[in-house]
Amino acid sequence: MKTTIIKIDRNQPEGLEEAARILRSGGLVAFPTETVYGLGAVCTDERALLNIFAVKGRPADNPLILHIYHWDQLGQIVSSVSPAAEKLIERYWPGPLTLIFPKRPEISSVVTANLDTVAVRMPSDPAARELLRITDIPVAAPSANLSGKPSPTLGEHVINDLAGKIEMIIDAGPCPAGVESTVLSLTGAAPVLLRPGVITREEMEEVLGKPILKAKPGDSDRPQAPGMKYRHYAPEAPVALFEGEPEQIVSEINSRLAAKRQGQKVVVLGTTENIPNYHNEWVLDMGPRERPEIIAGRIYQLLRFCDQLQADQIYIEGTADRGVGTAVINRLRKAAGGNIIHVS
Ligand code: TXA
Ligand code: MG
Repeated sequence: MKTTIIKIDRNQPEGLEEAARILRSGGLVAFPTETVYGLGAVCTDERALLNIFAVKGRPADNPLILHIYHWDQLGQIVSSVSPAAEKLIERYWPGPLTLIFPKRPEISSVVTANLDTVAVRMPSDPAARELLRITDIPVAAPSANLSGKPSPTLGEHVINDLAGKIEMIIDAGPCPAGVESTVLSLTGAAPVLLRPGVITREEMEEVLGKPILKAKPGDSDRPQAPGMKYRHYAPEAPVALFEGEPEQIVSEINSRLAAKRQGQKVVVLGTTENIPNYHNEWVLDMGPRERPEIIAGRIYQLLRFCDQLQADQIYIEGTADRGVGTAVINRLRKAAGGNIIHVS
């Protein structure tokens, strides 16, 4: 298939009529959002929805998020909106927060992977909003990467993964947040954070005036955010994530670097403060330790860059598990696929 690639200015989105036409006729379009690029299909076309799973190689039991433009569209998708959901919507939509609601029967089970709930978000990115506005049908969109790869935060990431497989890619340069939306379930007795993002648990607890539970993997037979159970966000090379005090992480990584095999290409991802302290040819700057939002903006790009460098091994300096840092460390742990070294 020939993929049409268009470049646009995300703050002055123009010329998206063709993209909307492709979507409305059942094609797939990759588009920018404020978090990561999405791979879109209209939620009313089951063949197009199934195509999303086929193109990505995505397991069928991992449901999709519906993206909306109008407030009215929410009522077409969900059967009820709780007072807690209303508070969060008022505060954070449009923006990088996905909420889980009870679904209306009309919503395809392909979107929800047979769950009786549905994930919805209203993106704030001007280009995403313009595309959703003229398409005028809610758009189902997972991240626009091949399943298992880091989510795409640059047009070229999408081109590398999906060119030749979908009708159109809209390239609007780097996505500002850099990690996927926060996912919060409001369908049970207490709110549950299913995926941390740049909108944090701490700030949503303030808005709600009550605690938000953290989803624990293995809590139930049926994972609450099915997507979170897979090895995700992973570059080609094995990743080792080091967690603990920064000085001890540096000395542990340095002692492993000293013992590396002849010719082995090891890439270190470290915080700005520690870059000069690593003894290695390849050291990449994730951003300052106290600025996790900067690290979030760079992390997927750096993981994909490790593939371009053809790294044999990646060592990552773990960062603090609080605020936006929780979203960062969550993605790093998944990239490490369980290979986490606690130093103390
Ligand atoms: O920022 C984002 O959310 C991006 C952009 C494109 O909007 N999209 C994205 O989609 O990250 P995806 O498919 O990569 O992740 C969706 C997550 C998965 O972990 C999935 O399991 C969860 O949302 N999810 C979707 N529907 C759900 C539901 N009904 N109940 C629980 N989790 C759900
Ligand atoms: Mg994804």
